[in-house]
Amino acid sequence: MRLYDHEIINLIKERWSPRAISSDPVDKKDIVAVLEAARFAPSCFNEQPWRFIVANDEKSLKKMRNLLATSNQVWANSAPVLILVLAFNKFAYNGKDNFWAKFDTGTSWGFMSLEAVNRGLVTHAMGGFNRKEAAAVYSLDENTEPIAIVALGKYGNAQDLPEELREREYPSERNSQEKFVVWDTE
Ligand SMILES: Cc1cc2nc3c(=O)[nH]c(=O)nc-3n(C[C@H](O)[C@H](O)[C@H](O)COP(=O)(O)O)c2cc1C
Repeated sequence: MRLYDHEIINLIKERWSPRAISSDPVDKKDIVAVLEAARFAPSCFNEQPWRFIVANDEKSLKKMRNLLATSNQVWANSAPVLILVLAFNKFAYNGKDNFWAKFDTGTSWGFMSLEAVNRGLVTHAMGGFNRKEAAAVYSLDENTEPIAIVALGKYGNAQDLPEELREREYPSERNSQEKFVVWDTE
């Protein structure tokens, strides 16, 4: 069970990464809204380095599913929307390396995940996919890095999951702040 030491907004409290995702389609208006939330993330120099490839029809979903690790395909193949999250790692205005590209792209995914909650949807990010193959399949240039694939959909039925995943189908806990925050004060 999740316990909160401080009061925070409900969208954050309600977000988690389930694996039981229903194959019911997601309305296009909801897909564009979660992308809109990602759009308004802050970024270094307002570079907006995030890029998204959205798969929501059978052909495009099949193509993206093929990139997933088998352990993710087991549950993520039912998701009606898969989003490949990419980071463009150069600054457009001067062509120099953008050290913050992945930081900003992560923020945009975070925003996206919260807007999904707001719309009664769930998201689950996956690092378990073949990044090299993704670059080839989508003809990515060398400055555009595949970061994650996000499954988006409505919450499904945990009973449909294989047993070992069913047992892990609950919101996970967190470290206490003492573990990751240093107050550099008296
Ligand atoms: C970048 C990233 C990569 C992840 N990769 C996977 C993955 O390949 N497979 C998986 O089942 N979950 C994956 N997750 C989900 C995490 O395990 C999950 O977010 C974490 O355990 C915290 O749980 P919560 O999101 O339910 O709060 C990933 C999450 C992130 C942000």
